Amino acid sequence: AVLHTNTRHDSGPKHVTGTAEYIDDMAEPVGTMHAYLGLSTKPHAEIVGMDFSEVLKAPGVIGVLTNDDVPGELDISSAHVHDEPLFAQGVTHFWGQPLFAVVAETRDEARRATHLAKVEYKDLSYFTDVRSAQAAGGKLVTPPLKLERGDVKAGLAGAPHRAKGAITIGGQDHFYLEGQIALAVPGEDEDVIVNSSTQHPTEVQLIVAHALGIRQNAVTVNVRRMGGGFGGKETQGNLFAVVAALAAKKWNRACKIRPDRDDDMSATGKRHDFVVDYDVGYDETGKIHAVDAVYAARGGFSADLSGPVTDRALFHCDNAYWYPAVRARSEPLYTNTVSNTAFRGFGGPQGMVGAERWIEDIAYALGKDPLDIRKANFYGTDTDNVTPYHQVVEDNIIHRVVDELEASSDYQARRKAIVAFNKTSKILKKGISLTPVKFGISFTATWYNQAGALVHVYKDGSIHLSHGGTEMGQGLYIKVAQVVADAFGVNLDTVKIMATSTGKVPNTSATAASSGSDLNGMAAYDACRQIKERLVAHAAKLHQVEESACEWVQGGIQAGSKFVGFAELAASAYMNRVQLSAAGFYKTPKIHWNRATGQGHPFYYFAYGASVSEVTIDTLTGEYTVDRVDILHDVGKSLNPAIDLGQVEGAFVQGMGWLTTEELVWDAKGQLRTHAPSTYKIPLASDVPPVFNVRLAEWSVNSEPTIGRSKAVGEPPFMLAMSVPEALGMAVASVADYAIAPQLDMPVTPERVLMGVERLKKEM
Ligand code: MTE
Ligand code: MOS
Repeated sequence: AVLHTNTRHDSGPKHVTGTAEYIDDMAEPVGTMHAYLGLSTKPHAEIVGMDFSEVLKAPGVIGVLTNDDVPGELDISSAHVHDEPLFAQGVTHFWGQPLFAVVAETRDEARRATHLAKVEYKDLSYFTDVRSAQAAGGKLVTPPLKLERGDVKAGLAGAPHRAKGAITIGGQDHFYLEGQIALAVPGEDEDVIVNSSTQHPTEVQLIVAHALGIRQNAVTVNVRRMGGGFGGKETQGNLFAVVAALAAKKWNRACKIRPDRDDDMSATGKRHDFVVDYDVGYDETGKIHAVDAVYAARGGFSADLSGPVTDRALFHCDNAYWYPAVRARSEPLYTNTVSNTAFRGFGGPQGMVGAERWIEDIAYALGKDPLDIRKANFYGTDTDNVTPYHQVVEDNIIHRVVDELEASSDYQARRKAIVAFNKTSKILKKGISLTPVKFGISFTATWYNQAGALVHVYKDGSIHLSHGGTEMGQGLYIKVAQVVADAFGVNLDTVKIMATSTGKVPNTSATAASSGSDLNGMAAYDACRQIKERLVAHAAKLHQVEESACEWVQGGIQAGSKFVGFAELAASAYMNRVQLSAAGFYKTPKIHWNRATGQGHPFYYFAYGASVSEVTIDTLTGEYTVDRVDILHDVGKSLNPAIDLGQVEGAFVQGMGWLTTEELVWDAKGQLRTHAPSTYKIPLASDVPPVFNVRLAEWSVNSEPTIGRSKAVGEPPFMLAMSVPEALGMAVASVADYAIAPQLDMPVTPERVLMGVERLKKEM
C-alpha cells in the first residue's frame, strides 16, 4: 500500500530538471498578445486625467485597457463588499495601484509603452501604517470581530500583576518563485479559457465571468501547478486573469500578462502587519487571569480577506494557553497601501506572536524561564479547556509534544550552559527558547469546507484523477493520488494526476487553510468508494459469489477463490455496462460558527507542534546566527512523511524569514521601497540552521476520522519560527541580567537587536 509512505513529489524530478510546465512555459497560441500594467505613482490622489496618445503611437502597441473596457461588473474583489475595481476609479488609493493596462505584440513593447502614459493627479492626504490610520479616525475596511469570555474587568482588577504594552508585528511578501501570471485564450461565442496561477480557480472563473458580463459556464479556468502561492494567489490572481480575459475577448486573440517582480511586489497584497495593544493580569505563579487585547492590522485600501485574516488572528490569540477571562477585538484598518491578503497562517501567526509576547513579559517580570510560564498556562482537561470562541479543546496533546521536545533537545542543560556562557562572554551572547504551536484546522467560512473530485477508470485499468485542490508545491496532488491508488489497491503509476480545472470539478474552495488534503483526499476517496462498490457487485455477479465473499486486495479483487486483476476487472465491467466514473463529495462534519456572537465550533481539530531555537548575537553590531533548531510537529498519521517533513522545514524557514530579516518599508511619500530582492531579504538555503533536527510526532493519530487519520500540515509549522525571535530576546536580555523584558518588535532584524541591547544597557 502506498498511503502513509515516503512517496516522492510527483513533480519533483520535473522541478529539478526544469521540465515542470508553468504558465509562462506553455506554448503560446498563434497571435498571443501581451499585457502590462500601468501603476499609480501617488499614494492617494484624484485622477484628473489619463492621456494615452503617446502610448498608442509606441511600437507594437495594440491598445490600452481601462475600466471603460469592462462590459460587466467592475469588481475583482473576493469580499462581499465589492470594493475593488479592476483599475483605480477616479481616485488612486495606494502607490502601485493599477490604473490601466497596455496590450502589445510583445511583453517588452507593452512594458515600455506603459511609461508613456500621462497621468494627472490631484494629491489627497494619506496614511500608510496602523498607528497613523488609528490617529486619522480608524476607518475600517470591513466589520471587526470581538471574542469575549469570562469577566475581563474583574479578572484584570483582581490580578496581583499586570503586563501592559504594545507589539508591532511586520508584514511579509509572499515571494513565490513564479510570480502572478495569466494566459487567456478566446473561444467560440462567449467562451474563454484562462490559465491562471491561482489557488482559487472557481473564484477566478466567477470574477472573469462577472467582469465580462457572461455566465460562469462560459469560463474555464485551468491550473496545472503554481510555483508557490503561500496565500498570495488566493485572491491576488483575479486582477491578472481579468486583464488577460478582457483583452482576449476584445481583440479575439490570446493574451498573457506577467508583471515583473517589482510590480508584483508593489501591486499585490501581502501579509498584514499588526499592532497588538494588550493588558494582561497574572499572579506570582505566572498564571494568567485575564487578557484584554486589540489587534489592529494594516488592511490596505480594500476589504479583500482582511476580515477573515483578522478574525483568525483573534482565533489564535490564545495559542496553546487557557485564558480564564478574555476579550479580543480586531481592527482591520483602511490604509493607503496595497490591500493585504492571505499569507500562510492567515493572521493566526500574528495572534500567536501576541500571546508569546505577554508570556515573555510575565516570565521576565517574575524572573522565570518563559517555558515555565507556558506550562503553567497550557490548556488542561477540566474547565480550563475552553477557547475565547467557546470551543472546547478536546484533542490537546501540547503537554506531550513539549515534554518530548524539551527532553530530546536537551533544553534544560543547554539553557543552563547558555546562562553560564553569557556570564563570561563579553561581546557574544546566546539565547534559547522553546515555543509551542496549536493551530485550528478548517475554514472559518463554514461553507468553504466542502470539496469535489472526479475519478475515471478506463477500460485498460488506468485511472484519471481530478479534484478541486491546486498544487503549489505543497504535495497535495501526490497525497490525493496516494489515497486513490490505495483505495483501488493499484500502483501509484496507474493514477494520472490531472490539472485542476473548473470544467472537471465545479464550485471548489480555495486551496487554503491547510485543508487541501483533508477535503480533496476525502472527496477523491468518496469517488473511489462508489466505483469500488460497483466493481464488487460486478465481480460477485461474474464469479457467482456473494458480495461479502469479495475482497479488495493489492492488484484487484479476490472474488471467493478467484482473483481478478484490476485491469481485467475494468475491461469486463465495461463490457457489462458498469459505470466506471464517479464524482465524489465531502463536507467537514461538526463545525459551526456564529460571527455575530463570537461563539461556535469553527475548527474540526487542532494541529500541534513545538520548536527550540538557539541563537548567538553580537552585541556590538546586532548581527546574529541561528545555531540550532529542534522541532517536533504533529501531522496526525502522516499521509506522506517525506512531503510533510518538507512542509515543516519549509514553513519554519519561511516563518523565520518573516520574524527576522523580511522587512517591508514604506517611505514618507507612501511608496513601498522594498520591492525587490535587493532590499527585501528572504531566507536563503544558507540560512537554514546548521543543526536542524526536525521530527514528526509519529505517535500522533487524528482523533477525528480524517483521511487516513492525518492532519493538515501546510500552515501550522510556520508558527514554529516564534522560538527564533524569542531566543534573540533572551540573548538581548542577558545584557541586563534578564531583569527587563526585551520586548522586541517583529521582525527582529540585526538593527532591532542592536537597539534592544542599547536600550537594555541604559535601563539597567
Ligand atoms: N508549500 C509550498 N511548497 N508552496 C506553497 O505555496 N502554501 C502554503 C502551504 N504550503 C505553500 C506550501 C499555504 S499558505 C497553504 S494554505 C497550504 O500549503 C495549502 O495547501 P494544502 O491545503 O494542500 O496544505
Ligand atoms: Mo494559505 S494562507 O490558507 O493560502
